[in-house]
Amino acid sequence: MSVKDKIDKLKIPQHVAIIMDGNGRWAKSHGKIRLSGHQEGAKSVKKALEVCGELGIKYLTVYAFSTENWNRPKTEISGLMNLLVSSIDKELDEINKLEIKIKIIGEIDKLPGNVRKKLQFAIEKTKNNSKLTFIVALSYSGRWDILNAVKKIAQKVKDNKMNVSDIDYNYFESQLATTGIPDPELLIRTSGEERISNFLLYQLAYAELFFTDVLWPDFSKEVFYQAIIDYQNRERRFGKTSEQITN
Ligand code: IPE
Ligand code: IPE
Ligand code: MG
Repeated sequence: MSVKDKIDKLKIPQHVAIIMDGNGRWAKSHGKIRLSGHQEGAKSVKKALEVCGELGIKYLTVYAFSTENWNRPKTEISGLMNLLVSSIDKELDEINKLEIKIKIIGEIDKLPGNVRKKLQFAIEKTKNNSKLTFIVALSYSGRWDILNAVKKIAQKVKDNKMNVSDIDYNYFESQLATTGIPDPELLIRTSGEERISNFLLYQLAYAELFFTDVLWPDFSKEVFYQAIIDYQNRERRFGKTSEQITN
């Protein structure tokens, strides 16, 4: 029995989020420059998208560049930005064929103009696809997302467009970058680090967490399948007792 056969088709998560980590360490261990680790990592993204297609996962969010990553050396940042543009050029037709809709979350204004333009093009080109939504977190951080929502709401209250008593969870969530997207049920992080690193802080409130030592460029479909199986064996209690869940 292969790993994939152990997956319960009736318990597939709707939304999986991935912190793609370990590109630099992969490069180092292969005697290569960091950028080649990022290039190799781009191939793993394709594998993750394929698994989502196979299993019927409707949303995949990947952490591609954090607010904090702006503090990396200039050469690495520009290498990553170029990689983003060349990956879109290379993969957009295939993404369209697979009926994948691209969405970007994050502080887009901070990205270089050519990257923004390319992203807009990809978003526009894939907007009618509905098999899978591929959300790329770019210049993103969970704290930025929450703060941004607070600012938008504060402005509306100030302009007398809403009352403080109207601010409920539903409304708050509609002001986050992930508006309209269900919360991830499963978060995967590669490379052995066990932290959230300012990813979807609000949205991950009840996600199941799966950590693997595999470095992102070595990510395989089997690792993804294993994460799904792990998730399916968790008891998601949402504060209730085990007895309440099983009865
Ligand atoms: C993840 O790999 C990719 C980005 C953060 C852009 P890293 O570049 O963080 O790889 P390590 O953690 O240095 O190995
Ligand atoms: C998190 O990875 C961000 C992305 C994967 C894009 P980092 O490698 O930047 O995280 P820390 O700084 O080690 O926590
Ligand atoms: Mg890292």
